[in-house]
Amino acid sequence: MDTSDLVALGARYWLPVYQPRAIVLERGAGARVWDHDGRDYIDLAAGIAVTSLGHGDPDLLAALTTQAARLWHASNVFYTEPPLRLAQELATAAGFAERVFLCNSGTEANEAAIKLVRKWAAAQGRPPERRTILSFHGSFHGRTLAAVTATAQPKYQQGYEPLPAGFRYAAFNDIAAVEAAFAARDIAAVMLEPVQGEGGVLPAAPGFLRAVRALCDAHGALLVVDEIQCGMMRTGTLFAHTQDEVVPDIMTLAKALGCGFPLGALLAGPRVAEVMQVGAHGTTFGGNPLGAAVARVALRKLAQPAVAANVERQAQALREGLARIDGGRGLFTQLRGRGLMLGAVLGEAWRGRAGEILDRAAAHGVLLLQAGPDVLRLLPPLTISDAELAEGLQRLDAALRTAA
Ligand SMILES: Cc1ncc(COP(=O)(O)O)c(C=O)c1O
Repeated sequence: MDTSDLVALGARYWLPVYQPRAIVLERGAGARVWDHDGRDYIDLAAGIAVTSLGHGDPDLLAALTTQAARLWHASNVFYTEPPLRLAQELATAAGFAERVFLCNSGTEANEAAIKLVRKWAAAQGRPPERRTILSFHGSFHGRTLAAVTATAQPKYQQGYEPLPAGFRYAAFNDIAAVEAAFAARDIAAVMLEPVQGEGGVLPAAPGFLRAVRALCDAHGALLVVDEIQCGMMRTGTLFAHTQDEVVPDIMTLAKALGCGFPLGALLAGPRVAEVMQVGAHGTTFGGNPLGAAVARVALRKLAQPAVAANVERQAQALREGLARIDGGRGLFTQLRGRGLMLGAVLGEAWRGRAGEILDRAAAHGVLLLQAGPDVLRLLPPLTISDAELAEGLQRLDAALRTAA
């Protein structure tokens, strides 16, 4: 089948919830991918912050194939070694966590976090109306009904009403708004992304997380950090919240945790580690040995100082490169984010045109993302080389020169 035949299959058979570009990707190596027609692209998207070790990492491949030759699945009615070891390694890496729940996606990890908050609040004798979860405008926490309700963006919620009760929202980085929300005395937990991803690549302001933590402590509430996009070294430290000098009660991970193998995790600190009992929650596939074997290697490799150093190096190169491309043209009004999670906010003349720019970029052989219509989002593999990044920037420059 040629590319247009394959694209036609998507148009004909898929539930039309996506609008992919008419490119069929076939293989990858490092920060480069090739499509069905043999054209190559520099990948500055990494499958939305997933393939953080690039494509075709030999150690991930070895972990997957070795485990695949042994045992794919056992379910949670038996033990297998990889998820046991992964849980220990994740808890150790995070420092605060005592227990881990493994699942298959970010949404599921957040759903588990929401359920854990509710169980905790119930165990404390709080009535249902005092088990509210506070999240932030612009957040993204996933697509199940509870996770999409925590996601304080109407566009993801519309048409799915009635939404579950017990969620409220405040303005991100506005500590007075959080304080005001606590005044209702119904908040059981605050849930936030240390760097909002889908909402526009917006980092927590200095001191915001610490202030939220203090309010949680003062009001007996939990702090849940969603590090599904910003975690796993994406921002230059293994977990983003450590830069904000807070200790959460719950952290959720996914995306780069499996570097392309679907996997999610919830990490529970001491206040909530003993809340869930047998039968309280579960999953068939979560903690399967294939995913866990891959994630163990991903965690070990992503935690290396050399990766942190490359994030810092390439983040600077990316910022400098984008500033050079802008060249005073007013393309971007702001470059924001942390590490290799970067948002380029489009200037006046370009506002609303992120999708068009992505099309032009793809046509010039570079893949990037948007975070809404006004922000280009760059999430390259954390192992991207100097040469790959330079080529990506050069292609982006060429793409932008074709647009008036
Ligand atoms: C911060 C954050 N939380 C949750 C999710 C949902 O994860 P998933 O798509 O794996 O369900 C995403 C996905 O983009 C995310 O960026």
